[in-house]
Amino acid sequence: MITSYELRKKYLDFFASKGHVVISSALLIPENDPTTLFTGSGMQPMVPYLLGEKHPMGDKITDSQKCFRAVDMDEVGDSRHTTFFEMLGNWSLGSYFKEEQIQWMWTFLTDVVGLDPHRLYITCFRGDEESNVSKDKTSAELWKTLFESKGITADIVDFPERDGMQGGRIFYYDAKKNWWSRAGVPHNMPVGEPGGPDSEMFWDFGEDLKLHEKSVWADQPCHVNCDCGRFIEIGNNVFMAFKKTDHGFEELQQQNVDFGGGLERMAMALQDTPDIFNIDLFSNTCRILERMTGKKYGDVEKETYAFRVILDHIRAATFLIADGAVPLNKDQGYFTRRLIRRAVRYGNDLGIKDLFLSEVAQGYIDTYKDVYSDLVTKHDFILNELKSEETKFRSTLESGIKEFEKLLQGFAMAEEKTGNKIAEISGKQAFKLYDTYGFPYEMTEELAHEQGLTIDKKGFDEAFGKHQELSRAGAEQKFKGGLADTSEMSTKYHTATHLLHAALRKVLGDHVGQKGSNITAERLRFDFSHPDKMTDEQKKQVEDLVNSAIQKDYPVSFSEMSVDEAKESGAIGLFGDRYGEKVKVYSIGNPSQKPLADASSLTFSKEICGGPHVEHTGLLGHFKIQKEEASSAGVRRIKAILE
Ligand code: ALA
Repeated sequence: MITSYELRKKYLDFFASKGHVVISSALLIPENDPTTLFTGSGMQPMVPYLLGEKHPMGDKITDSQKCFRAVDMDEVGDSRHTTFFEMLGNWSLGSYFKEEQIQWMWTFLTDVVGLDPHRLYITCFRGDEESNVSKDKTSAELWKTLFESKGITADIVDFPERDGMQGGRIFYYDAKKNWWSRAGVPHNMPVGEPGGPDSEMFWDFGEDLKLHEKSVWADQPCHVNCDCGRFIEIGNNVFMAFKKTDHGFEELQQQNVDFGGGLERMAMALQDTPDIFNIDLFSNTCRILERMTGKKYGDVEKETYAFRVILDHIRAATFLIADGAVPLNKDQGYFTRRLIRRAVRYGNDLGIKDLFLSEVAQGYIDTYKDVYSDLVTKHDFILNELKSEETKFRSTLESGIKEFEKLLQGFAMAEEKTGNKIAEISGKQAFKLYDTYGFPYEMTEELAHEQGLTIDKKGFDEAFGKHQELSRAGAEQKFKGGLADTSEMSTKYHTATHLLHAALRKVLGDHVGQKGSNITAERLRFDFSHPDKMTDEQKKQVEDLVNSAIQKDYPVSFSEMSVDEAKESGAIGLFGDRYGEKVKVYSIGNPSQKPLADASSLTFSKEICGGPHVEHTGLLGHFKIQKEEASSAGVRRIKAILE
C-alpha cells in the first residue's frame, strides 16, 4: 500500500524530475492578502504569479499546500468532507500547457503510483457564452489517446448530467463543473480575477457504492459529478489563461496551468477506501479515540459521525494554531474556537468526560512530524492552546446542554398547554447560550436543527450588538492583531513596526506599503513594497529616524473612525474596510495632525491597526536593523531588534 507520505513525496519528486522547483507550503493564514481569511486552495498564494508577476523560483513550481475551507465545516461528518486538507499542486507560469500537463498527470497516476486506468474518468469544459471560451476538445482528445494507449476505449460524451454516462469515459460539463476560479463560475468573478476551463480526474469506487450513500439525484442517471458516492474527484487541471475585465474576458499575457489534487482524496483512491477517515493519515488518531471511548469507528452511524467531526476538527485546529490562529472571538481565531468547541461537544456525546483534545492533537503531531516540523517546534504552544480552550469550554458545556434541554422542556410544556407548536428559539435564548455557556451561535443552531427548531437570528444579532457595545473596552484588551502573542515585548515590537513603516516611507517614498508583518517577543519582521535593495546610507537613515522618534518619547493613542475618515486623516494601513465600517487608527505623536514626510513633524505615524501598542515610544529602547533582504519580486524584508 502506498502511504500518504509516499504519495506526497512521489508527486513532488515526479514534478521535480520534470523541471519544477519544489516550494514549501504557505501558511494557512494568507500573509499578504487581507481580502481572504484562509488559504483555501493551492493557487491562493500563486495569484500574483498567475497574473504575470515573475515568481522568484521560476516558471515551473510544485508543492503540497495546507488548505482550510471554513465553508465545509458543517459538511464534515460524511465520508468525504474535511475542513483541512493538503493540495498537491503544480504550476506552469507561462511555461507548458495542456499537452504536457495531461501527459504528465497520466504518467503519474497510472505508472508512478499505479492507479488502475480502468477506474479513472475524465471531465472537460463544454464551452460557454459568458466567458466566450470554446469547448475544450484539445484536452478531451489528449485523454482519449492516452486511454487508448493502454488499450481502453474512451468515448467522449456530451451531456452526462442529462443522459447518463452511456458507457463513456470522458465527459463535457458546463462552467458550473468545469471552470475554475476562486470565485467559481465566470459570472461570479470580480474584475481582475484569473480563471479558466478545467479538466478533472475521477476515481470510480465501483457501482455498488451508490447503495451506501444517498444519491442526491435520486431520479436522475448516475454520472461522475452526481455526488452519489461512487466517484470522487482526485485532481483538477485548470488551464488558467483568462482574466475577467469590465468588458468580459480577455486572455492573460501567459497561458498557465494550475493543477490541484487533494492529497487525502488521492490516498483514498490508492488505498481504495471510499471513506476519507479510513486513510492512513487518520489511523493513528482514530485508534486513540477508539481507546478513549471504548467504541469502534464505523460501528454505529451516529457515533461515526461524532468520530469524524473530532478527527477533522482537531487536525484542522492543530494546524491552524501552529500557523498563528489561536482561539479567539473574531477573525481566523473564531473558526479555531468553533472547531474546538464543536469537537468537545461531540466528544461529550461519545461519553468522553476528561480533557482529551491534546492527546488527539499529539497523535496528529506524530503523524505529520516528518513533513511539518513546525508542529514539533510549536508542540507545547499548540497543546497548551487546545488545553486552555477545552478547559474553558468544558466548565460550561454540561450546564449549557442542561440549559438547552430545559428550554426544550419549556417548549413542550407550553405546547401542551396551548396546543401550538413552538418552532423557534428566541434570539435572547440563543444569546444566553453564547454569552453564559460559550456556545458559538452555529453550535446552538446545530443543536436546534437536530430538534427540528430554528433560531431567531435577527434577535440574536441584536442581543449580540448590545453586548458588544458594553464589552468593547474589554475586547480591546484581548485583540491580538498580527501578533504571535501579547507579551510586553511583542507589544513593543508592534509599536516599533509602526515607527519603521513610517520611517521607511519618509526615507524611501510613499510607494512603500506593508506587505506582511510577523512579530515575536525576540524580533520584528516587516515586508514592504520597494523595488531595490536598500543602501547602507538608507538603512542608517531609517534607524536614526526610528531612534529619534523613540527619544522624543511620543505618546501613542488611538481613535475610532470610518475608513474614509481614516484615509482623510492621513492614516496608512492595508486592512481596507475589512473590519467593517469603523476602524481604529493609531497615532504616534500628535493625533490631530497628518504625519508629514518632514522628520520634524509632530505626528510621526498614523496607521489603521487593531493594536495593542505601548503608551509612549520612550519605552522601546534602541532600534537596530539586523537584515535587509529580498522577500519576493518587488518586496523587501527587514528584520530588526530592540536592544
Ligand atoms: N485551483 C484548483 C482547485 O482548487 C486546482 O481545484
